[in-house]
Amino acid sequence: MPKASLISIASYIPEKILTNFDFEKMVETSDEWIVKRTGIEQRHIATNETTSDLGTKAGELAIKRSGFDKSQIDAIICATISPDHLCMPSTACKIAANLGLNYGVTAFDISAACTGFIYLLELANSLIISGAKKNVLIIGAEKLSSIVDYTDRSTCILFGDGAGAAVISSSNENEIIDIHTASDGKQAELLITPGCGSVFPASEETLKNRLNFIHMSGNEVFKIAVQTLSKSVIEILHANKMQSEDIDFFIPHQANIRIIDAVKNRLNFKDEQCVLTVAKYGNTSSASIPMAINDAYEDGRIKNGSVLLLDAFGGGFTWGSAILKFGGKNFSDLQ
Ligand SMILES: CC(C)(COP(=O)(O)OP(=O)(O)OC[C@H]1O[C@@H](n2cnc3c(N)ncnc32)[C@H](O)[C@@H]1OP(=O)(O)O)[C@@H](O)C(=O)NCCC(=O)NCCS
Repeated sequence: MPKASLISIASYIPEKILTNFDFEKMVETSDEWIVKRTGIEQRHIATNETTSDLGTKAGELAIKRSGFDKSQIDAIICATISPDHLCMPSTACKIAANLGLNYGVTAFDISAACTGFIYLLELANSLIISGAKKNVLIIGAEKLSSIVDYTDRSTCILFGDGAGAAVISSSNENEIIDIHTASDGKQAELLITPGCGSVFPASEETLKNRLNFIHMSGNEVFKIAVQTLSKSVIEILHANKMQSEDIDFFIPHQANIRIIDAVKNRLNFKDEQCVLTVAKYGNTSSASIPMAINDAYEDGRIKNGSVLLLDAFGGGFTWGSAILKFGGKNFSDLQ
């Protein structure tokens, strides 16, 4: 049976930066409150670019770094909660066209909120080990600024825009070790964009009530996230007879430094094992994990064969963890 490896990583971050001091002029908040409660200092915001533009730039670089020709990519899957269009076409179809992938390439989006990248990994891994595909481009891309309510101080300070991409390829070297994904829809309303779907179709009323934006009961979500993530990480380590010392880098979804610290401390990860980007990017949902992997790859921390533990929690609720070795047979250093 073929195995799959994550053989390349890349990200794209839009230029414009919104600092906490910018928010002080927009809503009743302060840099001090935001840093203390979230660890976020700034986030990047796309102005003239769409979600597919961000995904295209990350995808282009991920393919280049994989060493494959574009014609060898036989599927592209995009995870996003801020797609170019609500229903169709998918953002993946638009990215495939932008990249000039093969006519007829399999292309579709998934919606798993902040756990999007872990779901993407599981899908790509399954497609490859089943023999259906050989080289799958996965992309987490978000223009969350298009669904953030900039009058709601409890959510607007949290989110940023960006994209991360990876090529998952058939390989027996540095294989993906394990992936767990999960969900529980019973508390879906705690983190939700209520409007513009079939429940509250787009209307004047929907827009007036700001139902097209992200609504979150932050405090409840925070507690559930910490408990669920700790359990998820313990379970995947246990299932693979591994301990925190066996992990080179712990790369959690970057939502809030206090959530990350709580999980890190429960699991006894050392500071140098943790990859943190929340201060400079904020929460970029499905893009946050590949953006963080890319940062640690570009600064030379992650190398061919590094063992990574990923974890994420998000709307749905969805959550998941993955353990993998980075790189593979055709791995080349940063290009
Ligand atoms: C959103 C979050 C930062 C809020 O922090 P918190 O410590 O839970 O704060 P609370 O929501 O309990 O609010 C405490 C107070 O701060 C206020 N507050 C909220 N946002 C504020 C802001 N930006 N600036 C200043 N005050 C703010 C609240 O109104 C509340 O005031 P009150 O006590 O007078 O009612 C935090 O709950 C969180 O990070 N939640 C999870 C986020 C997350 O991970 N979401 C996605 C999962 S992927």
